[in-house]
Amino acid sequence: MKIAMAASEAAPFLKTGGLGDVMQALPEALGNMPGNEVCLFLPYYGQIKRDTRWDCEFITSFAIQLAWRQCHVGLFRLKSKSIHYQVYLVDNEQYFDRTPIYGHLDDGERFAYFSKAVLACLNFLDFKPDIIQCNDWQTALIPVVLHGEFRGSFPYTKTVFTIHNIEYQGWANSNFNYDVLGLPASFTETLRYGDASNFMKAAIVSADAVSTVSETYARELQYPYYSHGMSEVLIQRAGTFFGITNGIDVSVFDPSKSPNLPFHYTTDTMVAQKAQNKRALQEELGLNQDPDVPLYVMVSRLAGHKGIDLLCYICHSLMTRPVQLAIVGTGEAQYEQALTSISRQYGGRMVVRLAFDPGLADRVYAGADGYLMPSRSEPCGLSQLIAMHYGTIPVVHATGGLQDTVIPYDPTTGEGRGFTFQSYNGEDFLDAIDRSMSLYYDDRENWNKLAQNDMNVDVSWETPGQSYMEMFKKVAGIS
Ligand code: GLC
Repeated sequence: MKIAMAASEAAPFLKTGGLGDVMQALPEALGNMPGNEVCLFLPYYGQIKRDTRWDCEFITSFAIQLAWRQCHVGLFRLKSKSIHYQVYLVDNEQYFDRTPIYGHLDDGERFAYFSKAVLACLNFLDFKPDIIQCNDWQTALIPVVLHGEFRGSFPYTKTVFTIHNIEYQGWANSNFNYDVLGLPASFTETLRYGDASNFMKAAIVSADAVSTVSETYARELQYPYYSHGMSEVLIQRAGTFFGITNGIDVSVFDPSKSPNLPFHYTTDTMVAQKAQNKRALQEELGLNQDPDVPLYVMVSRLAGHKGIDLLCYICHSLMTRPVQLAIVGTGEAQYEQALTSISRQYGGRMVVRLAFDPGLADRVYAGADGYLMPSRSEPCGLSQLIAMHYGTIPVVHATGGLQDTVIPYDPTTGEGRGFTFQSYNGEDFLDAIDRSMSLYYDDRENWNKLAQNDMNVDVSWETPGQSYMEMFKKVAGIS
């Protein structure tokens, strides 16, 4: 099958969150399957251009039209022997030589441009995909532009729009089509949502199929509480709305090899080697050298929906228990300040590192005992998968992908993967931590067994990759 994918970020080139991880592993997983031809389109951000790790060859340049604007498109291809798919980079310095990569006043225009440019590049390359898979609002206009401008060039191409997070939808003025996108007037209605234009809504009604990143999130999105206004539109897609739980790239997140870790381990060597990693991590973070106190961690964007408010709320109570707590991440100023000031009261036992540092994150996953993830909502969540893969036991709010991947531990049978709480409140969160702590203090043998079971869970892209293929085949009408 010929598959073109488009996204606004992908590791290892540039990543700001989980989307970037998925866009590294999913194209690779699909590209490795026999019979597939896969390519991934990304903006050629200044940060990628100046990064000497990437050698790109120029293919062509041309102009496209965005309403009255003539815009330059440079097409580059990554020269690489190690990856099993082609990476194409769309060059326009005016739009993509920016820091940070999101959050500019003209983001709508920048990504409308990108969406149009991807189709124009595919057309130039004469690559006629069976499927174009687009991700989140930044590439949501691809199905719309395909209908509005490129149908003649791609009469059989189907589109799949994947929602990684419904909270960011791509809102613009009601005259966005007339002023920027420049599709025929009938498409103004496709874009219209209330008094404005909404990229995600346009994709949901235009794509041949819609998917999201876990089964539970797919169900949740059909309720107003979770859908940020999209439930009605999504309910109409029932039948062509899929939930496929993400995996992680187990060659990147590998406790037996990761160059970031001082001590490598497998399931068999985990107990001893994790203790060494814990000691090293306590030293690195300035925590007391204490091997027998459970170290709970969180590596997260410090944003409201990640449950940081709950964490702040329970923090003092939590610190009355015999625990250590380490938080790594950056985000909203209110949470950065609140957590930092709480941590000052618990020197040696609680630490906050305001950093986005993948190397440190790796050492934190490896050195910790428990991983906290109280997200208010969580489309899939990758951290709990990484934690489990590193033998670090998750304590999570049972929502979205967390519900699908962290099966509650049953002390009578020893089955399950971690500790969960059902309703979003501080007491229940604390209770879940307490339950995990009882296992740690009262039954270390079963704690270790649980950690080993977690390490053995298949969190690779193998199964999700196959589910994507099944969805693509259904959509493309290939049996
Ligand atoms: C977003 C979601 C996260 C998901 C990731 C990759 O970051 O918030 O839950 O795992 O996308 O799909």
